[in-house]
Amino acid sequence: MYYFNQSLLLLICLFLLAVGCKKEQTTTVSNLALDNQIDELLNIASNNQGREYFTLPESDDYLKIPNDPNNPITKEKVDLGKLLYHETGLAINPKNPISKNTYSCASCHFASAGFQAGRFQGIAEGGIGFGVN
Ligand code: HEC
Repeated sequence: MYYFNQSLLLLICLFLLAVGCKKEQTTTVSNLALDNQIDELLNIASNNQGREYFTLPESDDYLKIPNDPNNPITKEKVDLGKLLYHETGLAINPKNPISKNTYSCASCHFASAGFQAGRFQGIAEGGIGFGVN
């Protein structure tokens, strides 16, 4: 009985392995076709510049980030922006006096959520509490 179970288990494993491999091959082939199709469309949309045209530059590669020529991005400006973004000293006119100097832009706009609230409903100015509700 023990040997029978072991052989059966081995057979099932081999079967699953075979099915698994076959499925993976099919997926790879169709993915390749899709990749080619996407590359073609990206080439058309980018005037033959390809995928790279759509790749976002690193956040500190200021020369590659679209710039206002009259106000180019510099490391100093970015550092100042980060500082002001987290500065609670700017919260001088809250709806509720108790909130004075307790919040900054970053309290409501989360960088990790694309600078959005990252919640179903923004708490907005005057909101109290930072719980999920
Ligand atoms: C108390 C929470 C809160 C704080 C603090 C806050 N915001 Fe906002 N912000 C909001 C909400 C809520 C909205 C959306 C308002 C709407 O759509 O009517 C918004 C909208 C915005 C928008 C418009 C976004 C868009 O897509 O139109 C900008 C830009 C913005 N805030 C920048 C800032 C900056 C810069 C600071 C800091 C000086 C700041 N916010 C501080 C809650 C806040």
